[in-house]
Amino acid sequence: MENNKKSADKISKELNWRYMLFDSLTFPTLIINPDKIILDINHNLQKKLSANKNLIGKTCHEYFFNSKTPCESATCPLPKLFADKKGQSKLIKIDTDIEDRWEDRVFIPILNENAEVAFIRVSIRDATQVKALEKELQDVRNLMEKIVQSSASSIVAADIRGNALLMNEAAENLFDYSLEEFQQNHSAKDFYPPGVAKEIMKKLRSKDYGGKGKLTSTKIDIVNSKGEIIPGEIAAAIIYEGNQEVATMGIYTDLRDKIAVEKKLEKAQKQLAQSEKLASIGQLAAGVAHEINNPLTGILFNANLLLEDQKEGSTIYNDLEYIIEDVNRCKRIVKDLLVYSRQANPAKNFVQLNMLVDQSLSLIHDQKLFGNIKIEKKMSEEMMLINVDENHLNQVIINLVMNARDAMNGKGILTLHTYRNKAAQKAYLEVSDTGCGIPEKNLHNIFDPFFTTKEPGKGTGLGLSTVYGIMQENGGNISVKETSPKGTTFLIELPLYSSLQREQES
Ligand SMILES: Nc1ncnc2c1ncn2[C@@H]1O[C@H](COP(=O)(O)OP(=O)(O)OP(=O)(O)O)[C@@H](O)[C@H]1O
Ligand SMILES: [Mg+2]
Repeated sequence: MENNKKSADKISKELNWRYMLFDSLTFPTLIINPDKIILDINHNLQKKLSANKNLIGKTCHEYFFNSKTPCESATCPLPKLFADKKGQSKLIKIDTDIEDRWEDRVFIPILNENAEVAFIRVSIRDATQVKALEKELQDVRNLMEKIVQSSASSIVAADIRGNALLMNEAAENLFDYSLEEFQQNHSAKDFYPPGVAKEIMKKLRSKDYGGKGKLTSTKIDIVNSKGEIIPGEIAAAIIYEGNQEVATMGIYTDLRDKIAVEKKLEKAQKQLAQSEKLASIGQLAAGVAHEINNPLTGILFNANLLLEDQKEGSTIYNDLEYIIEDVNRCKRIVKDLLVYSRQANPAKNFVQLNMLVDQSLSLIHDQKLFGNIKIEKKMSEEMMLINVDENHLNQVIINLVMNARDAMNGKGILTLHTYRNKAAQKAYLEVSDTGCGIPEKNLHNIFDPFFTTKEPGKGTGLGLSTVYGIMQENGGNISVKETSPKGTTFLIELPLYSSLQREQES
């Protein structure tokens, strides 16, 4: 045993293990004293230097920075090393003509028996590759970030407690929060009406909605910062690390535009169906009206002849008067039918909407017709030029006014309101009443011919269907803007023309 120790000591001295260890370090290494003087360098550093370069006795700043002046204490790692007696490292960029290189200089204190820093070992590690990888990673990260940020879909990621980690620009716009604002005061459950967040998590954890941890596109209501409910769609996923849930992410789509387009389409389809229905009924009505008109004229003529021979007040005289009255009513219906099914092309002119309204009102100015109904006009002072058949449009306005009157039972306010939207190139007329309103179940039928809720003899049910047809012919539209037991507003829309268009077209 004793012998072994002796021979080990001997070998150790002969081979100078410590020095060999220093030389065998893979990183170029130097030893400096606390005054920053280089005392020794290892084999690998010597190899790095040009053959005749001698560093011993020089300062570390001379070697590292080719400078006689010591580095500023803020940038030099040694003050902290002396204070903490712990290793320090410094990443340095070295500009070369060919490529940028990075060195990680690691300073390790070597303490004496009094625990004071006696020497410092400085290893130089080439960090160029690490840095290049780091940059690559950063570039990929930046690219991912850009993809997420520029996505038109709203993307949100949250930790498992619901704290938002990421919200792209589209999500900030949709939910109307900035990420910071949301992080401070909210959690992911605030994106939905109460209870919905839990429901989504349940679906995510189930296998039935796109596989465990996934939720394929599902319709939901989204709640924004103002508490507004937005119809939307969500596709979501749980992010796992191993088996552990660490985060969730959701991609949201705002369905408002899509729904608006669908509604428009539905409305257009309904209008088309209505026009087709009206067209076919119109043809039929025209035929029937023609056929009935002649015999009616005959009946009326003969009834009047017979009347002349009777004594006024006699039973026959009275019966004949009834016949004549009823025949006249039939003739009015036939006339209405012919108007409704008119086939002639409309004679269009450029007119002011306000002027048309006045003209129509003057045609029915008889106050007896309106009793205690007050007529109010709210006419826009702006120019509202429309290209329509005046007579037809008068008929439209009169029909609407008469319907409004009938709905009010002799008392109330009838308002005619005109306005325009220049950007949309539309002129509008609203006819409102404070009458009984239209029950929901009748709303689908009011534009149908012969639909009436009025007592027999009071209405034929052709008014609104005629109005509908005229509006179509004149490139406009009619709809019920609102109705309730407090009253109804009908809205007429017509293409708006400018004086310039008028000159070009006439
Ligand atoms: N302003 C309104 N308020 C309440 N109900 C209305 C109003 N306008 C129309 N209606 C309802 O729509 C039905 C159809 O109207 P439309 O003008 O086509 O026929 P009518 O007025 O009954 O008969 P006609 O106009 O042929 O004399 C009416 O019977 C009524 O029930
Ligand atoms: Mg009517």
